[in-house]
Amino acid sequence: MNHYQFGVDYYPEHWPKERWATDARMMREMGIQIVRMAEFSWAKFEPSEGAFRFEDLDEAIDILGREGIDVILGTPSAAPPAWIVERDPDIQPLDWTMRRRHFGGRHHDCQSHPVYRAHIKRYVTAFAAHYADNPHVVGWQVDNELGNSHGDLCFCEHCEARFRAWLKQKYVTIDELNRAWGTAFWSQGYASFDQVHAPRVTVTGLNPSQDLDWKRFTSNLICEFHQFQADILRAHAPGKFITHNLMGFCSKPSYYDLGKQLDFASHDQYPGGHFHARHDEYRADWHAAELDFIRAVKQKSFWIMEQQSGITGWEILGRAPKPGQIPLWAMQCVAHGADTIVFFRWRSCAMGTEQYWHGILPHNGVPGRYHREISAFMKKYAPLLKELNGSVPKAEMAILRSYDQERAFDIQPHHPQHRYIQHLATYYKAFHRANVPVDFVGEEHDFTPYKVLIAPLQFLMTPEHAAKLRAYVERGGTLVLTWRSGVKDGTNLCHTEGALPCLVDDLCGVALAEYDCLRDTTGLVHWDGVDYPCDIWCDVLETTTAEPIAVYAHEFYAGSPAITRNRYGKGTVYYVGTQMAPELADRFACELCADAGIKPLLVTPHGVEVTHRVVDGKRYLFLLNHLETSQRVDVPASWRTWDDADWSGELSELGVQVFVEE
Ligand code: GLA
Ligand code: ZN
Repeated sequence: MNHYQFGVDYYPEHWPKERWATDARMMREMGIQIVRMAEFSWAKFEPSEGAFRFEDLDEAIDILGREGIDVILGTPSAAPPAWIVERDPDIQPLDWTMRRRHFGGRHHDCQSHPVYRAHIKRYVTAFAAHYADNPHVVGWQVDNELGNSHGDLCFCEHCEARFRAWLKQKYVTIDELNRAWGTAFWSQGYASFDQVHAPRVTVTGLNPSQDLDWKRFTSNLICEFHQFQADILRAHAPGKFITHNLMGFCSKPSYYDLGKQLDFASHDQYPGGHFHARHDEYRADWHAAELDFIRAVKQKSFWIMEQQSGITGWEILGRAPKPGQIPLWAMQCVAHGADTIVFFRWRSCAMGTEQYWHGILPHNGVPGRYHREISAFMKKYAPLLKELNGSVPKAEMAILRSYDQERAFDIQPHHPQHRYIQHLATYYKAFHRANVPVDFVGEEHDFTPYKVLIAPLQFLMTPEHAAKLRAYVERGGTLVLTWRSGVKDGTNLCHTEGALPCLVDDLCGVALAEYDCLRDTTGLVHWDGVDYPCDIWCDVLETTTAEPIAVYAHEFYAGSPAITRNRYGKGTVYYVGTQMAPELADRFACELCADAGIKPLLVTPHGVEVTHRVVDGKRYLFLLNHLETSQRVDVPASWRTWDDADWSGELSELGVQVFVEE
């Protein structure tokens, strides 16, 4: 596979043909080597059934090819055309109130519908065959941002039929489903699988076991929908890569599962997106977490398939990126393991929903500030990206990101403000502030390369998972478990035997006395003479073999352990019973790193991020200043600037400096 450093998302169908050659030339002059196209153009390329008109796309590919630019093509299944919808209106999805969602936006499709599958099969087969031998078409993207705009997916009869088949395969008998779902409650027992429905709108709260299986099923359906198209592409156009534009912590499909079908993962990165609730909030750490997570999908370097290239907006707009900010955001992706950055989009579109999602070029096509900044960035850093290709940061610590735990907390958040991902972010952000590199892992990954594994909120605890955690600790790993661990079994029923955290209580050396949901109040944790705030939840602990390292300083359980440490086998287990405020998380991170022998990359002022990528033992270090004021940073004498720039010790506002260390 060729290596690419920079690309752009391009929609030639939005512009007169006479402009295409100019666009391609300007792209080449800028340093663009690859373009993604065609993922929303079904109506144009198949205006009626079987009447394929790929001529214009051929021409656009040809024009780009003459400038030395390669192409990734997207399959258009995120936007079926009007003629399909007119003929087969029930391919449009039904929401959980059984209300039809209609044509006029995108994602107006049911992924199960056999008629829609037949349409996709016809199109994708023809598309793949047509471009199989085109040397400029090097890769595919199936659909677009799978899991986006799909709510809880579709509740039509075809989706329900698939759900039932999925349940039958899992539980075999209806008695086993009744047991696993606890249907004795509220008279929900089923006599046959035919009586089971997708979890449509109900009068009161839903059966949490049913809901968990529905969420697992919809994730599998999305992955199977991807597989369906990927199989066609691989059969009819072998030798081209398949990737997908993922969306960070989006939880609809499991990216670990989807990732198995991809040659590499890609991600869409919009740090200044209009959809953020607050634009004055510091979010560099959150974006870093998303990038580290995308690296976990294939446990290797990745691409950015859509990198913000200007002000974003649909009906409402975000802030204009400040001078330097777009290069900074792109560099942050590189700093966390991106090999290739594809900017979204080439030119701001004059029509449709995304008129204000600005591209490198403004509506009039005349280069302005975004073009200037992005061009300079590409020119300067293309050689660096070449050197880095395929390398990743090296981390001694991992955070377990579990889709199942997230689903279970989506169903029962316990506290109105509790979000699974925000809880993970508490830990991630503390290590980010300390400049300690972190990987993410899934349950199925190997934990043994890591000195420390943070496994937050292990709410669902199966014997297999408990055994894996135990083996990790026995062999010398340091494990961190947090509140509400070991509460449920794999189908979302509460464990009824032994002490909480069930199946791992001896590993933690604690037994829960009770717990408290901190509704409309906060709490305090006392550690070495300092009181730190905590929030959301308190597991009140009794120690068996563990030592308390911090205690609660509020409520009737003041003095009871809040954070404990247990030596077990050759390893150590921490149990953190509450949601830590950032200052407490910092204190904890410091304790943990000292205990496990993990050192930060560098000590920097707030807002200056440090990461590294390692190429054959040579370290590339990235200093990124996310603040709008310059910052003093002391770097070791062994670091020299990658571009031979004089290092003054001062990193300019929104500035980037790359160093190397042999
Ligand atoms: C997403 C999609 C793109 C486009 C952009 C801007 O990331 O993948 O098709 O819609 O957002 O809205
Ligand atoms: Zn459906």
